[in-house]
Amino acid sequence: MARKIQLADSQPLDEAGVQDKAPKNGNSNSTTPDYRAQAQRLRPQREALPIFTARDAIIDHISNHPTVVVVGETGSGKTTQIPQYLLESGFTTRGQTAIAVTQPRRVAATSIAKRVAEEVGTPLGGRVGYTIRFEDCSSPLTQLRFCTDGLLLREILADPLLRRYSVVVLDEAHERTLRTDILLGMLKDIQRERARVAELNRSAQQPPDEPRADHRSRGTHVKFGEEDAEQPAAAAVADAVHGDVTGLDDLRVVVMSATLDAERFSAYFGSAPILYVAGRQFPVTTYYTAAPQADYLDAAHLAALQIHTETPSTSGDILVFLAGQEDIENVERLLVDSAASLPAGVPALLPCPIFAALPQAQQARVFDPAPGFTRKVILATNIAETSLTIPGIRHVIDSGVHKVRGFDPRVGESLLVEPISKSSARQRTGRAGREAAGHSYRLYTEADYAQLPEDSVPEIKRCQLTMVVLQLKAAGVRDPMHFDFMDRPSRKALRHALLELYALEALDDRGELTGLGRWMSEFPLEPSYAKVIHASAAAGCTREAIDIVALLSVDSLFYVPADKRDESNAAQMAFRSSDGDHLTFLNLLRAFTKAHGDKDWCQEHFVNRRNIKHVLDVRQQLNRLCVRLGMNVERSCGSDLAVVLRCFLAGFFHNCALLQPDGSYRSLNGSQTVHIHPASSLFGKKTPAIFYDQLVFTNKLHARAVSAADPLWIANAAPKLYGRLASSQVH
Ligand code: CDP
Ligand code: MG
Repeated sequence: MARKIQLADSQPLDEAGVQDKAPKNGNSNSTTPDYRAQAQRLRPQREALPIFTARDAIIDHISNHPTVVVVGETGSGKTTQIPQYLLESGFTTRGQTAIAVTQPRRVAATSIAKRVAEEVGTPLGGRVGYTIRFEDCSSPLTQLRFCTDGLLLREILADPLLRRYSVVVLDEAHERTLRTDILLGMLKDIQRERARVAELNRSAQQPPDEPRADHRSRGTHVKFGEEDAEQPAAAAVADAVHGDVTGLDDLRVVVMSATLDAERFSAYFGSAPILYVAGRQFPVTTYYTAAPQADYLDAAHLAALQIHTETPSTSGDILVFLAGQEDIENVERLLVDSAASLPAGVPALLPCPIFAALPQAQQARVFDPAPGFTRKVILATNIAETSLTIPGIRHVIDSGVHKVRGFDPRVGESLLVEPISKSSARQRTGRAGREAAGHSYRLYTEADYAQLPEDSVPEIKRCQLTMVVLQLKAAGVRDPMHFDFMDRPSRKALRHALLELYALEALDDRGELTGLGRWMSEFPLEPSYAKVIHASAAAGCTREAIDIVALLSVDSLFYVPADKRDESNAAQMAFRSSDGDHLTFLNLLRAFTKAHGDKDWCQEHFVNRRNIKHVLDVRQQLNRLCVRLGMNVERSCGSDLAVVLRCFLAGFFHNCALLQPDGSYRSLNGSQTVHIHPASSLFGKKTPAIFYDQLVFTNKLHARAVSAADPLWIANAAPKLYGRLASSQVH
């Protein structure tokens, strides 16, 4: 007897959204949008998507298999439709179980949630919501929750069986982000445990002489289990381990990918079925440059201008793929300048940036149609590669690069601009052919394309694992060395993470999580920052520590227009601390707060308003979390700011370098020559020791966000590692 999916709360499509806070009678006025009417308006669009014809097959498979892999071209409707199909088919129970849909990026989670709420016909945060780090737009009644993969990992810490979810949809799995990979392993474990508990629940409910379905082989191959008189006792054991598990059901997992590498996901989940959804792709003509480009930013700017002036604006908008926020802001400036002096008769040009850290209101501009005779040039990171569908694009400019987080235990974290893979190049090109035939301009030669790797290396194989190993430990994974990774990180990287956590005192010498480690795992931050905040309690500078940690969460606080470099530098000088960037940033925040900084203030001081607002958000969230953990977040060290710098060493003793007789700096943990970044307030200065927030390798190893340190602080922060610095001071 195959088990049926519970059909409570199922809702046909045409009744969507009349629950929740939507107006019951369908009347709308200027303040209450008519959610139902909007959903109905969008319905034909939904039904025209390629995935719509596969709706029944998808539901059928997910009903009958614990895990299903869905592969489909970008834009076929996977992300927006599959969660709704599940909702409509009764996979959730209002107020009890929900569906989680994970995204690698915050922007995707929020913008997709917004779109799906519109399609369902419900206010955002009601039946459909999202939760991302530092922002929650959901309620206990939310049945479809879009979240980042990192957020779901954090939920596992609080709810190891993810009881509130009946289905977890892992979207953009092909991106193989670190957190997606960890989630894959955790979900597999949770599925196993939930299946065991669900089986016990079922057997407890069934009369003893009726045959029982064996969940281990479900769907078309239902087996009838042998009798097992031990079951009720086993149910009690499950209760003891997990609390009340009455009624807890299996966890379904849907893995979604935009590329064809689905077999590996299927194999990992015990031969899970793979569903291929046909896409709708128009032909795209690809162009290469004749020679390699020395400056891809310049090339991107020129290419966009050329397309704009040589093709009619009715031939569609332009999407430019760049490496990161800095690139985007540079090209945006170039384009704004050029747009101001377009020849007569050429329509206006509107640059629209989109990247992960961009505030939501500005992200939204990307999706809005350009006003009048204006053409949009969307400047994006690889966020627009598969996770977001931006309408109206017919021209793609591909810089051929992206930013890659890397890690080498000797030199630390790096964020490098590197060539993309062939698979990425194809995805980028594909964006031009979503609605009609399009054009893709690759800013590299055909020979260079041929040299690109087929796929990118999964993040887990090349990045720092400290935070995830701490999370694994906090989630009860005793031995992260033997965790069931889909792609195993190197032993060296895992060992490094364990040693780092040991040095941070998050693990004891038997490798067990300490009280401090558990405390640190509460923070959605790299453990080093959590350690700094922890140290600030005893030092009496929690307010400053939180401020600085929040300030370090953005790439850049200052805005440096190419033509006003001197004025911008002069404005920055007003905040400059001779101790370095950490206190310079703090001075800036204090001045901003004191002046009730508004748009004009930011402009006058060349402060990046977008980013400082983000800092305030992060600070607020950290304050809340610290208050919940019983900290006094108002404890301030006033003007004795050396106190807070010393606290930073508690978390950043591994990011230190000493001045050498030849005037260079050498890192303490890897003996590498480290250069202070030109944007730092310590650039060109000599001080016996420095600590830094991160190392970035470009043409050489640059330390970013740098402050002066007393070697004694380093010795005191990590006596076992650097105690010798204290004795060398004596001589
Ligand atoms: O996930 P997948 O790439 O397969 O597609 P999707 O994100 O579900 O998008 C399906 C369609 O929904 C897109 O082609 C757009 O037409 C539409 N969409 C939209 O108009 N606005 C959004 N914010 C998201 C999707
Ligand atoms: Mg998608």
